[in-house]
Amino acid sequence: MNLMSNTEIDPSLDLVAEINRLRKEKNAVILAHYYQAGEIQDIADFVGDSLDLSRKAAETDADVIAFCGVRFMSEVAKILSPEKTVILPDMAAGCSLEDSCQPDEFEAFVKANPDHLVLSYINCSAAVKAHTDIIVTSSNAEYIISQLPADQKIIFAPDMHLGGYLSRKLGRDMLLWQGTCIVHELFSEKELVKLKARHPNAPVAAHPECPVNIVQHADHVGSTSSILKFCIEHDEQTLIVATEPGIIHQMEKEAPHKTFIGAPGADGNCNCNTCPFMALNTLEKLYVCLRDLGPEIILDEETRVAAEKPLRRMLEMSPPVVKK
Ligand code: 13P
Ligand code: SF4
Repeated sequence: MNLMSNTEIDPSLDLVAEINRLRKEKNAVILAHYYQAGEIQDIADFVGDSLDLSRKAAETDADVIAFCGVRFMSEVAKILSPEKTVILPDMAAGCSLEDSCQPDEFEAFVKANPDHLVLSYINCSAAVKAHTDIIVTSSNAEYIISQLPADQKIIFAPDMHLGGYLSRKLGRDMLLWQGTCIVHELFSEKELVKLKARHPNAPVAAHPECPVNIVQHADHVGSTSSILKFCIEHDEQTLIVATEPGIIHQMEKEAPHKTFIGAPGADGNCNCNTCPFMALNTLEKLYVCLRDLGPEIILDEETRVAAEKPLRRMLEMSPPVVKK
């Protein structure tokens, strides 16, 4: 008799072998974000940033998309591929940016500014996307905004730091929603300056979700995939990385001879900058979700259709795919 509950796993199971078996049996594709644990990145069919993952989800011919990231990312997969079964290892994997922008309040804000074009960062709920004109990610926002007429008034939500960075860089006035990422806000400028003094030649790469006091010290600012490319291709052997430290796993795989130092928080190390939402997904939960085909992303069809429009617009206005 099996006395284990559905969520308990036989400790003798070879999880990697089981995940590989289930992936084949269910015709599933495993997509993972760079902020996932190394063992999840290693088993995924594809690892990428938010834009790469959206594109993969839109074009896959698998029956099941096992999305190892946070909920808004798996919702994007479902919005773009509604006929697929989209599963997420832990449904509690949310995002502080999504939490900071509640659909009712956002709808009222949009209605109060009717002459503005509404741009939302992909880190928001499907309901907020439904009130948006164009979705952007950190890798295509500059490219998309540059296509808009100079006098076009813009609302940007929910990340005030990414919005502020774009506004400064492109010289455009934007009405910013005041949301933030709790992970990128934890980097300490004081500790970063000390770290730079210890490694004077180490370039700093930062995600634009970081506040301006961190971004101002960066030699490169961009999405996770652009940070990865910058760090791997740079001639310097030691680099400082100001984003969630999960990405260092890919850097070490692609450039094992180099040293990548996570930017520090106020305690002088980078452990506090692990995204608590991304960390909810584990190899065990990935196995269970492939076995049970759940937790599954289910969206109300009206919201899905309304959210698909700004996402399709994003894909149409994005830069062409560069082969790696
Ligand atoms: P990108 O992967 O698009 O750079 O975004 C990072 C992020 O915020 C994930 O939560
Ligand atoms: Fe959200 Fe920040 Fe975590 Fe990304 S790192 S999922 S923006 S809380």
